[in-house]
Amino acid sequence: MIPQRVKEGTPLAAPPVYTLRGVGKTYARRSLVALEGVNLDLPRGSFSSVIGSSGCGKSTLLKIMAGLISPSAGSVILADRPVLGPRRDIGMMFQQATLFPWLTTIDNILLPIRIRDGRAAARDKAADAMALLDLVGLRGFDKAYPAELSGGMAQRAAICRMLITEPAVLLLDEPFSALDELVRDFMNMELQRICLEREATAFLVTHSIAEAVILSDTVFVMGARPGRVIEAVTIDLPRPRTLDMVTSPAFGRYVTHIRNLLSTGSQS
Ligand SMILES: Nc1ncnc2c1ncn2[C@@H]1O[C@H](COP(=O)(O)OP(=O)(O)OP(=O)(O)O)[C@@H](O)[C@H]1O
Ligand SMILES: [Mg+2]
Repeated sequence: MIPQRVKEGTPLAAPPVYTLRGVGKTYARRSLVALEGVNLDLPRGSFSSVIGSSGCGKSTLLKIMAGLISPSAGSVILADRPVLGPRRDIGMMFQQATLFPWLTTIDNILLPIRIRDGRAAARDKAADAMALLDLVGLRGFDKAYPAELSGGMAQRAAICRMLITEPAVLLLDEPFSALDELVRDFMNMELQRICLEREATAFLVTHSIAEAVILSDTVFVMGARPGRVIEAVTIDLPRPRTLDMVTSPAFGRYVTHIRNLLSTGSQS
């Protein structure tokens, strides 16, 4: 059997859970080509990032992958089925935690289950929600309201809310960009730990080259006008990643390579 390969001939560790082929998006009102010819393979259990200048189409790509908007061209397949709208196996997280202020932390986390399957189902999931709170270091905060949480704690609660539905894929649009650097480093390591423990497939939009490199198996570097993937950079650093890896020569080489790609992409 011929092994499946991503760009640059890197063998995939597992069969792709997500496959995008020739994905394009034109926003009709302004005839703006936001994306063109995007091909991606995300192996099951992998962590990928997408990085590119502001307005190059990263959020558009993520929304297409989530089934929130439809592509103008190409196909998006998740777990052997085309993505034609929002799905149970997809979890999303945005820049802001967007917890409901009138619900306690635990009720916020259980809300997607309550909406989807009803109150009884939410009650059945309460123990799972408590276990998730433990996982992200929020034990004892189940009865707290969002106003009583710090920004980082609210983001962690939002992670729990995303994980409670047990999505196969996590789509993350700059989830920690509002946090200060130390909390963000901590959250990134938490995210890695959770993904490893849950064998989740993650796809992260970020503006930080260092964040993309430390977290990812593959960094997709995007160029603008039209938004497209310039290169899929394979990050060959051991797992679990640790924050001190940022001082290693290999890490520095990846950062420089991606920075060069980004400056070339923004000139084209
Ligand atoms: N609903 C929309 N209608 C028309 N144009 C849109 C719409 N959403 C995005 N665009 C345009 O598509 C392009 C890509 O936008 P997108 O939000 O995907 O960029 P981005 O890479 O996520 O940027 P940022 O890093 O600033 O978040 C931009 O030129 C934007 O103006
Ligand atoms: Mg965006």
